[in-house]
Amino acid sequence: MQNFDYQTPTRLIFGEGVVEKLQKVMSAFGKKILLTYGGGSIKKIPAFRNQNSAISNQYSGLSLYDYVRETLKDFEIIELPGIQPNPKYDPSVLEGVRLCKEHKVDVILSVGGGSVLDCSKAIAAGACYDGDPWDLISYKVKAQAALPIVDIITLAATGSEYDCGGVISRTETNDKIGYLDRHLFPAVSFLDPTYTFSVSRKQTAAGIADAMNHTIEQYFVEDATLLNDGFCESMLRSLMANGRKCIENPEDYKARAEMMLACTYGCNGILALGNSESGWPCHSIEHALSAYYDITHGEGLAIITPRWMKHILNERTLPRFVKYGVNVFGIDASLDEWTIANKAIEATYAFFESIGIPMHLREVGIDDSRLDEMAHHIAVNEGLENAYAALTEKDIKEILMASL
Ligand code: NZQ
Ligand code: ZN
Repeated sequence: MQNFDYQTPTRLIFGEGVVEKLQKVMSAFGKKILLTYGGGSIKKIPAFRNQNSAISNQYSGLSLYDYVRETLKDFEIIELPGIQPNPKYDPSVLEGVRLCKEHKVDVILSVGGGSVLDCSKAIAAGACYDGDPWDLISYKVKAQAALPIVDIITLAATGSEYDCGGVISRTETNDKIGYLDRHLFPAVSFLDPTYTFSVSRKQTAAGIADAMNHTIEQYFVEDATLLNDGFCESMLRSLMANGRKCIENPEDYKARAEMMLACTYGCNGILALGNSESGWPCHSIEHALSAYYDITHGEGLAIITPRWMKHILNERTLPRFVKYGVNVFGIDASLDEWTIANKAIEATYAFFESIGIPMHLREVGIDDSRLDEMAHHIAVNEGLENAYAALTEKDIKEILMASL
């Protein structure tokens, strides 16, 4: 077991109607708020559905956006709307930093999915730095501070609500960088599963695939514990069972709630405490796909994952695949080990396909014209020669080719 030094300072407030506490929570951080959000979904999500309390009755019928504006009417709110999926450095991060500095913002309130929150994290760090915020995101300079962030997460997927990472894209250089810094943990995250009722079938499936892949990335390592393996296997079984229910019935509270919590656990490192490094190869490859082609992150991961698995299956990795196949998919343990491993990879593919994810790069608009360029970009920037199963540029190209 490896040594570690671990702290997650984020307060999670989970359950239906929890935004009742928003005003009280925000008042601990000051009076000036940068309210960040995306393309408008928060103007359609009901703030309260079935509750019967003084606050929910007072604000009944309001959208999440209207509720936030109403309940925080005594605060000074500056808005940054229009943050896109795969959030862009220019204009969103730059504009947010500018607004924070100009208005001397005290706290950022992010309302939306992982993209809005990731962008808010980069803004929070950039607002406390005098130079170009890209210095921080590209690890040229280490952040010394960041504005506090409170979020209301509306999509179960990334786990950004419980981690210290933000993924930012820079279009002109085809960079999509996962920026990690301990200052970027949200101070408080509100998680109301009913807010995810309106997430489309496509985004729900992508969220399931994303959280499953976060778990898989932490499961396929050299040195793991029985404890973490069990945690990861349970995550995967829960995500598949509840994810399927969310697709079938988007308003199944119990399924949405369990999926939301599983997604929250996915990315903050708790699944891998004491394990050796994995290198997160599928994410490294997918980030290039969405940097070059702006595709949906979870779909890219679902396409890459089974091809990566097939590529790294060998005598050394075989026992991991056997354990995965038996404990996650219930494959008969008495079968030959290679049969179990191959069945496990097929089952992974079949699950993603069964929830409606397009399973070929061509289906999401990626042809073979830039595979060499992307493979080179990934090999140079992601350091996958140190991954659990080392990947050279040639390996990456082969995985991309197999994914077409
Ligand atoms: O922009 P709006 O109108 O809000 O619509 C969004 C967007 O179009 C919509 N949406 C969000 N909540 C909704 C909703 N639609 C209806 N009802 C709701 N309740 O969904 C679309 C996608 O939103 P986005 O925030 O992009 O999705 P997600 O949460 O999956 O975030 C993806 C981004 O996170 C990064 C990905 O690379 C990608 O850029 N990641 C962040 C990580 C992290 N911080 O730890 C880790 C991940 O591995 C991932 O890389
Ligand atoms: Zn991810």
